[in-house]
Amino acid sequence: MAVPVAPSRWPLLGHTPSMLRRRFAFTDSLREHGEIVRVDLGPMPTFFVTNPELTHRVLVTEGASFRKGAMFDKFRPYLGNGLVLSNGPFHRSQRRLIQPAFHRDRIARYAETMVRAATELTGSWQPGEIREIDKDMQGLAVTVVGEALFSTEMGKRAIDEVRRSIFVVIKQGMIRALSPSFVEKLPVPGNRAFDGAIERMRAIVLEVIESWRTDGVDHGDVLSMLLLAQDEDTGATMTDQQTYDEVLTLLTAGIETTALALSWIFHEIARNPEVAQRLYAEIDTVLAGRPVGVADVPKLTYTLQVVNEVLRMYPIWILMRRATADVELGGEHIPAGTEVIISPHALHFDPRSYPDPGRFDPDRWDPGRAGDLPKGAFIPFGAGTRQCVGNVFAQTEIIITVATVLTNWRLVPVPEQPVRVKFTSAAYPSRLPMTAVPRT
Ligand code: HEM
Repeated sequence: MAVPVAPSRWPLLGHTPSMLRRRFAFTDSLREHGEIVRVDLGPMPTFFVTNPELTHRVLVTEGASFRKGAMFDKFRPYLGNGLVLSNGPFHRSQRRLIQPAFHRDRIARYAETMVRAATELTGSWQPGEIREIDKDMQGLAVTVVGEALFSTEMGKRAIDEVRRSIFVVIKQGMIRALSPSFVEKLPVPGNRAFDGAIERMRAIVLEVIESWRTDGVDHGDVLSMLLLAQDEDTGATMTDQQTYDEVLTLLTAGIETTALALSWIFHEIARNPEVAQRLYAEIDTVLAGRPVGVADVPKLTYTLQVVNEVLRMYPIWILMRRATADVELGGEHIPAGTEVIISPHALHFDPRSYPDPGRFDPDRWDPGRAGDLPKGAFIPFGAGTRQCVGNVFAQTEIIITVATVLTNWRLVPVPEQPVRVKFTSAAYPSRLPMTAVPRT
C-alpha cells in the first residue's frame, strides 16, 4: 500500500513552504489523509505519523529501532553530544549518569530554590504594576535551572551569563535548524549575536568546571554530580567537553520550555474565571496562607490538572526520529534510514482523543476521565527511553510558581494588547503584559 502524500507539495521545496506558512494548521490536517502521511522537507522525504498508537510504537515499543532524526542534527554544532542529541549505548550510559540528578530527593532540594525565586519575584511586584509576564517567567526559569546546576560563587557569574545569552542561543538555534546550512555563515547581526553568546557561555562554564576540578568538593549541585559521576562498568568520568555539552543541553532544554508553560498558564487562568476560582479555592485550602513547600505539590491536584491542560494545548510542535533498522508500522514497511515525524501538537489536538480540542478544559484531567486516553495521545514530555529527564523538575517548578503567585496576586490581562501565538518549535506568546493586582 502506498503511503499517501500530503497535499500542497512544491517542486524542490516539498512541503516546507506549507509547513512554515501554515504551521499547526498544516500538521493538524494530516490525520485526514492517513495514519502515516508522506511529508517532504525540501528534497528529504519523511513519514509523518498521525495517530497515538503508531506514535507509541515509534517512541516506546520500537524505540530501540530509532535514533534522533534530521532536525536534531542541526543543533549538534553547539549542543555537541549532550543528552538530547546522543544515541545508542552512549546515550544509555549518559542517561544513567545524569538521571540521579533528577531523583525525587534532589527535586526536594531544588524546590527550595523554586520557592525562594518565585517569592522574590512576586515580592518585587508593585500593586497595579504592568508586568511582562513572559519575561518574568524566563528570568525565573533561568534562576531555577541555573542554581540547580551551579551553586557556588563563581556559579553566580555563570548564571548571569546564561541570563544574558541563553535566549539568543535558543532563538537563533531554531532559525538555523529551519534554514539551509549556508545561512549560519552569513555575516548578519543574528549570527554574530549567536556566536558571541556561545563563546561567552562556553568560556564561563569551562571556567566553573576548571575551578571545580581544582577544589574537588561536592557542592550538591547538578554540576558536581556530572563531574563526580562514574560509569558503573568502566569507572570512567566525563571529560570537560562532555560536561560542557551536558550543561548547555540542560540549559537549552530546561529553561525555555518551562518558561513558556508558565506564561501560558497565567494567560489561560486570566481567560477562564471559573478555572481561576477553583485554583484559588484549592491553593487557599491547602496552603492556608503559608508559603508553598514541596510536600504540598501532590495535594494541589486541580492545579496539576490545569498544568496538564496547558501542556496539552501548548506543546512542542514536532519531534523527529530516524529508523536504524527496517520496521513495520501500521502495515507499512519503513526501511532503515527513513526519517519519521511525530507531532505532540497534532496528537494533542486530535478530536478523537480530546473532544472540542480547542477548548481549555482542565476537567479532561479529572482522574475519573483521563484514564480513557490511548497510549501516545498525551506526550508533552515525549515517551520511552528518550522521555524528558526534567519532567518532574518542570512540573514541580510550575506548580510551586503558580501557587506562589496566586497566593497573593491576580494577574489581569492588559485589554488593549491582544496576545497572539507566535510559532517556532513551540508556541510563544507575542507578548504578555498583565497587571499585578493584590488579592485582598
Ligand atoms: C514544561 C517543561 C518541559 C517540556 C515541555 C519538555 C519537553 C521535552 C520533550 C518533549 C523531550 C523529548 C524529546 C524527544 O523525544 O525527542 C524532552 C527531553 C529532554 N528534556 Fe525536557 N521538557 C521540559 C523541561 C525540562 C527541564 C526542566 C529539563 C532539565 C532541567 C529538561 C531536560 C531535558 C533533557 C536533558 C532531555 C533529553 C532526555 C533524553 O533524551 O534522555 N527538560 N523534554
